Amino acid sequence: PILVVDFGSQYVQLIARRVRERHAFARIVRHDLTAERARELNPMAIILSGGPSSVYEQGAPRCDPGLFELGVPILGICYGMQLACEALGGTVRPCPAGEYGRAELKVLDHSEDLFHAVPESTTVWMSHADQVHDAGPDFVTLATTSTCPLAAVRHKTRPVYGIQFHPEVAHTPYGALILGNFLDRICHSRGTWTMEAFIERSVVEIRERVGPSDRVVCGLSGGVDSAVAAALLAKALGPRVVCVFVDNGLLRAGERNAVAEAFGAHSNAELRVVDATEPFLRALDGVSDPQEKRIRIGHTFVDVFREEAKSIPGARFLAQGTLYPDVIESGGDRDGPAATIKHHHNVGGLPAELGFELIEPLRDLFKDEVRRLGLELGLPDSLVWRHPFPGPGLAVRCLGTINAERLEVLRQADSIFLDELRKAGLERQVAQAFAVLLPVQSVGVMGDGRTYENAIALRSVDTDDFMTADWSRLPHDLLARASTRIINSVKGINRVVYDVTSKPPGTIEWE
Ligand code: XMP
Repeated sequence: PILVVDFGSQYVQLIARRVRERHAFARIVRHDLTAERARELNPMAIILSGGPSSVYEQGAPRCDPGLFELGVPILGICYGMQLACEALGGTVRPCPAGEYGRAELKVLDHSEDLFHAVPESTTVWMSHADQVHDAGPDFVTLATTSTCPLAAVRHKTRPVYGIQFHPEVAHTPYGALILGNFLDRICHSRGTWTMEAFIERSVVEIRERVGPSDRVVCGLSGGVDSAVAAALLAKALGPRVVCVFVDNGLLRAGERNAVAEAFGAHSNAELRVVDATEPFLRALDGVSDPQEKRIRIGHTFVDVFREEAKSIPGARFLAQGTLYPDVIESGGDRDGPAATIKHHHNVGGLPAELGFELIEPLRDLFKDEVRRLGLELGLPDSLVWRHPFPGPGLAVRCLGTINAERLEVLRQADSIFLDELRKAGLERQVAQAFAVLLPVQSVGVMGDGRTYENAIALRSVDTDDFMTADWSRLPHDLLARASTRIINSVKGINRVVYDVTSKPPGTIEWE
């Protein structure tokens, strides 16, 4: 692997994804990883990430200096460059006036592998308050900017490189090439991280783990991850995979059929659809507190699932579509960064309670890789490019009390909004879009009469990681069409508003 050492940069996952886009396997590790453990992981290279600290501060995160003795290529980015230079004889100081945003990089020597085929002058993205003041006698300067004399350096005798700018962000147009140069020309990466190879390897591993008389239960949620996990398992095990799709009555319009069709046509696994609308609505009766809704839905799900699982003989494993970011953020990788902020929405405790062993075939993958895997496995575009949908479903978009009528109003409005987005060719451009039914009534006038009815909020966000997001700048005429259609055809709605809150401070969902 390529080890990406995390010093707290918001871009750590992005670095790992960029590396993988160049077909090398990147793994994110904690900054206190020892050189000894790093050697056991047999890295092809190490990338030191950026971070918010100052290397000269007490308590700033550092890496084991032994990493520089391993002999593998090292690329320090921003804070990572400052650490590397400091560790190898340089000094770091605050810049006279921090450098944030675009800067013009002058490449000094084109015979350098790192800058192969990069123009002599190119835009890079900077974000730093410190910089390497003096790299010491052992580094040569490869590039500069007007305020950052040491914008890229190479060690004279060791394969250690440092760049002050961020190659991983889109604002550095030649960033992917620079990272690619590091991987291909300096690390001699053979580009073996491909989806075909991943499928082959996974199929072997799954068959080794799941015996011939064992069966795997796969909970399908309607989302991309569980569908791809199921398809991969089905490829390895065929009919020994039993998919269970619980219709909790909180799904989007047409979802149940879409999943059944998409799935049925593309896999030879068994599919069971459990109609559980009634127990879910009963559990939610009179509940309007968001956390209480989640808890009740979680419990009901466990009950329904447990009942269904009883009738699956030989079911030893439970599949989950856990992804790499979930594994990292929940502290689930012994070498990965410690658990952080994200609170996990997967139904807690289910496998243990049911006596299943967990199988998580996607735990090494990022979301974009899961989508590519899904396409490679033959799942239809409509499923693979689906927006994420929360486990508690429409319950957290139906603010206030929940009942079948209010859910139906929401479902219709939501479906119109998505239909308009699709027609405008924007569904794939936005990360997530949906309608929310507000517990608010307002006055309107329709025909000759005064109305006093409900309001719908439309929400659409752009984001890569769902941790931060911005509201989508949708065309006004699209919003106008959606609003008119919703008010004209959805009974009980006389007002539509568009949510213009970013995250933070808002969240993506309203509850
Ligand atoms: P928020 O609202 O926290 O949402 O900004 C971030 C992402 O998580 C999804 N989400 C959930 N997913 N169970 C889930 O499976 C939940 O309880 C839940 N709450 C939010 C949300 O749709 C968005 O993609």
